[in-house]
Amino acid sequence: MRCKLFPKQFLAAGLIVVLWGVSPALAAEDTNPFTGDPEAIAEGKSLWAGTGCYACHGQEAGGAVGPDLTDDQWVYRPTDKTIFKAIAKGRKGTTMVGWSTSLTDEQIWKVIAYIRSLYKGDPGKIIW
Ligand code: HEC
Repeated sequence: MRCKLFPKQFLAAGLIVVLWGVSPALAAEDTNPFTGDPEAIAEGKSLWAGTGCYACHGQEAGGAVGPDLTDDQWVYRPTDKTIFKAIAKGRKGTTMVGWSTSLTDEQIWKVIAYIRSLYKGDPGKIIW
């Protein structure tokens, strides 16, 4: 009996170790790997200009037809995941369309790094 139990426990322990190793990789998709990275921010800035985000959000993201992205007023709680989704998929029923056909995931994260770098709101409200 005992001998039969051991392999099961071994397997369970192995599984836990594997999941432990995989979970940070999965979580990484929800947070911007480029936050604060100067090179990525510079690239994000040119993507911002090249993609035409400025047409609605303003040259420096200060807002126009689209909302200001530099203050601490957001439509939804501005986690990296929420902002990524807004840019990739757009916001239904608004003029904010999705950009995943023109920008890769990596490019979207770089644009977000640029947006974060422009933040002028309350530092206490930073959740990214
Ligand atoms: C045609 C106008 C238009 C363009 C172009 C545009 N946006 Fe938007 N964007 C909007 C509007 C309007 C909203 C507000 C949507 C809402 O009410 O949820 C928005 C929302 C957002 C939000 C979420 C803000 C929040 O408070 O939740 C982000 C981030 C954003 N845009 C980034 C971008 C980026 C990056 C680009 C370029 C790739 C871009 N937008 C291009 C109009 C635009």
